[in-house]
Amino acid sequence: MNEAAMNTPPFLISEAVDLKLHYPIAGGGWAGRSATRYVRAVDGVDLAIAQGEAVALVGESGCGKSSLGRALLRLEDPTEGVVRFDGQDLTALSQALLRPLRRGMQMVFQDPFSSLNPRMKIGETLAEPLRVHGIETGRQARETVAEILHVVGLEPRVAERYPHEFSGGQRQRIAIARAVIARPKFVVADEPISALDISVQAQIIDLFDDLKARFSLTYLFISHDLAVVRHIADRVAVMYLGRIVEQGGPDEVFDHPLHPYTRALLDAVPIPDPEKERHREIAGLVGDVPSPTTVFQGCRFASRCPHAMDICRQRDPVLETVTAGHSVACWLHME
Ligand SMILES: Nc1ncnc2c1ncn2[C@@H]1O[C@H](COP(=O)(O)OP(=O)(O)OP(=O)(O)O)[C@@H](O)[C@H]1O
Ligand SMILES: [Mg+2]
Repeated sequence: MNEAAMNTPPFLISEAVDLKLHYPIAGGGWAGRSATRYVRAVDGVDLAIAQGEAVALVGESGCGKSSLGRALLRLEDPTEGVVRFDGQDLTALSQALLRPLRRGMQMVFQDPFSSLNPRMKIGETLAEPLRVHGIETGRQARETVAEILHVVGLEPRVAERYPHEFSGGQRQRIAIARAVIARPKFVVADEPISALDISVQAQIIDLFDDLKARFSLTYLFISHDLAVVRHIADRVAVMYLGRIVEQGGPDEVFDHPLHPYTRALLDAVPIPDPEKERHREIAGLVGDVPSPTTVFQGCRFASRCPHAMDICRQRDPVLETVTAGHSVACWLHME
């Protein structure tokens, strides 16, 4: 590598700077008095995803993963902070100005049963992004649809069929095809495999790997299951109650976890049933998960942490780099 290349920072496709997404909820008080409280779903996240990178976002149910994913795509309006896509500040763009950017950033949802329009043929569903973004119509669009079906491992003739004719795994392939057909730069895949059988999960993971290589896709892969993401992620970010508490390469995070929460997640024994799996108990942790409306003074994990010290209850730790590419927000690791 020459010196200029070494000094050029990687180009960032998606970026969050002190991002907050708080949902107002009506609450408290007696009739007639409605104090507004907030679910602090995303509560100060810094994240930078470089071109071509696959970042896995993991954490327990309700920690804010989907909220963060939606905020990165400006499907939600941030409460505070900044989101950028492909170098552009999305934070305050109007819907009209966002529309042309939508081609470049797509989302794959968890549930392949509700994410496809049941009344549209697969071919129409897949051609829609091409039409909406003024890319192709007619025969050209049909050819592109056939190509993308091939890429995701389906026969071209499935274009003539309807979603109900397919299995969950096939539908998820179609949903993924729809997300990538207009060649986006960035895809947020929100638990794209958790509704699928274990055997099918592995195939869809392989498909994401293949798409990344083929289209040099950049993506954020959301999962509540750490083990699933190990071999597809270039980087793993662990989220707890609205914050990223640890991030690093998969080998560092899996083999040398630093945050007590990451260690507890890794120690949790997987349960084969995906529904129960989502709500499994995490061994080794004390106390209950605090309410997501809590305004924390110290570390948000302190109430469950087996190693909590005085400082943890008083001061909020920020993500600090411990070794190259591996950072943690934990007083145990601060000088
Ligand atoms: N539209 C909304 N209005 C109010 N609260 C919301 C809304 N969406 C999410 N929440 C709350 O925000 C918090 C974070 O939710 P989110 O769906 O982002 O978590 P998650 O990590 O994706 O969970 P899961 O693994 O179950 O999908 C939760 O407490 C949730 O109840
Ligand atoms: Mg979610």
